[in-house]
Amino acid sequence: MLPENKMFEHRIVTAKCNAVDARSIESYKALGGYQALRRALQSQPADVVNQIKRSGLKGRGGAGFSTGLKLESVNRLDACPKYLVCNADEGEPGNFKDRYLMEHDPHQLLEGMIIGAYAAGATRGYIYIRGEYDQARDLMELAVKEAKAGHLLGNQISGTDFSFEVDILSGAGAYICGEEFALIESIEGKAGRPRNKPPYPTLSGVNNKPTVISNVETISNIPYIVLNGPDAFTAVGTPSSTGTRLVSLSGNVKKPGVYEVPFGTRIRDIVFSLGGGVPDERAIRMVQIGGASGPCIPPNLLDLKMDYAEFACQGLSMGSGAVIVIDERFDILDIVRLNMRFFKHESCGKCTPCREGIRQILRLLFKFKNGSALESDLELLQTLCHVMIRTSFCGLGQAAPTAVLSTIRYFRDEYIKGINNLNLTA
Ligand SMILES: Cc1cc2nc3c(=O)[nH]c(=O)nc-3n(C[C@H](O)[C@H](O)[C@H](O)COP(=O)(O)O)c2cc1C
Ligand code: SF4
Repeated sequence: MLPENKMFEHRIVTAKCNAVDARSIESYKALGGYQALRRALQSQPADVVNQIKRSGLKGRGGAGFSTGLKLESVNRLDACPKYLVCNADEGEPGNFKDRYLMEHDPHQLLEGMIIGAYAAGATRGYIYIRGEYDQARDLMELAVKEAKAGHLLGNQISGTDFSFEVDILSGAGAYICGEEFALIESIEGKAGRPRNKPPYPTLSGVNNKPTVISNVETISNIPYIVLNGPDAFTAVGTPSSTGTRLVSLSGNVKKPGVYEVPFGTRIRDIVFSLGGGVPDERAIRMVQIGGASGPCIPPNLLDLKMDYAEFACQGLSMGSGAVIVIDERFDILDIVRLNMRFFKHESCGKCTPCREGIRQILRLLFKFKNGSALESDLELLQTLCHVMIRTSFCGLGQAAPTAVLSTIRYFRDEYIKGINNLNLTA
């Protein structure tokens, strides 16, 4: 990790990443690790839930739902067993922050899971790790082993009545398995396919039992909140978006990498002050936020702040924190087609709007690219996107058209150029 740029970074979840030995629980403990767990175990589970609720922690996996509310829903249900699942599938192109956390501070994630399980009353847990993340899986397995040996995991943790077991599972390369129900199906040994919602996993998740499913970054924030109190957490960020956001910065920047910034940081500061700007001082054509399922914004929106409310005001979603910079050498339609090809490959095929809609969008995009589009095709393309958003069965199909719609909104001329203009080449 690069040295902290104190002007723009604020380290909570990455605070120990430079200092801790990821292969040693003792190293983690020497830096204050597992003190939050000790404190949590001295409180009632409902008090821990309240602390997390008061911190305003929202899920960092994309949807931004309150983590405290999820824990509370499961805590209130009388069922056995209850589950806590860590979503470490990280299949969204452009995202690599969860991998970073697991490879640099695996015990922080594990401690967050144990505290979360205590708060929710869960006794079984899973970490579902992207198949390609060999090193992360090895380190998480080692962390589980060390924590069990130290009675911080397993039966009667630290001599209390609370028991929690964690298993580690690997994905097999399907992006859809990051979707919470597809992931749950996969844990149950079935093909990863989304289920109808509601009921949500908090009511009926793994083996139809109440389940909290949360992202790696989300869970990694829990030890800090419990140890330092919710006020310390809300002191960072903005009223609508408390704490920090891990940004996976990639594309045409001088210093790509994982950066932790307070919510409220401008995208411009992420790209230029942290990322060093574009190599050879080329101009930015667009920045895609959140990954392949996120919006593409033009350079004149770079002052947009990483903040749920501000994004919502613009009708945009922040997704899981990827910032992908595309410079002037690239063609907008090529980038959008690349995104859609990814979704075509990853669509599970269960529902017609997504399975067929993506193919039709690709067909239309090709017409805009080679100049054979008709004026009516632009209307058709937008209608198709809206139908997909409204009728697709799961988040994959609902988010897949985001890049198309955002580029029609901000880069309309690129599409207009492709109407009745057959002299262009695809
Ligand atoms: C197609 C698809 C892929 C997803 N992939 C991931 C993923 O890799 N990691 C993740 O945390 N959330 C992913 N999500 C979001 C999860 O469904 C879920 O909202 C999230 O794990 C909840 O955790 P959070 O509350 O901490 O954000 C994905 C959603 C969809 C629709
Ligand atoms: S939206 Fe796509 S990924 Fe989701 S269920 Fe339908 S076909 Fe499968």
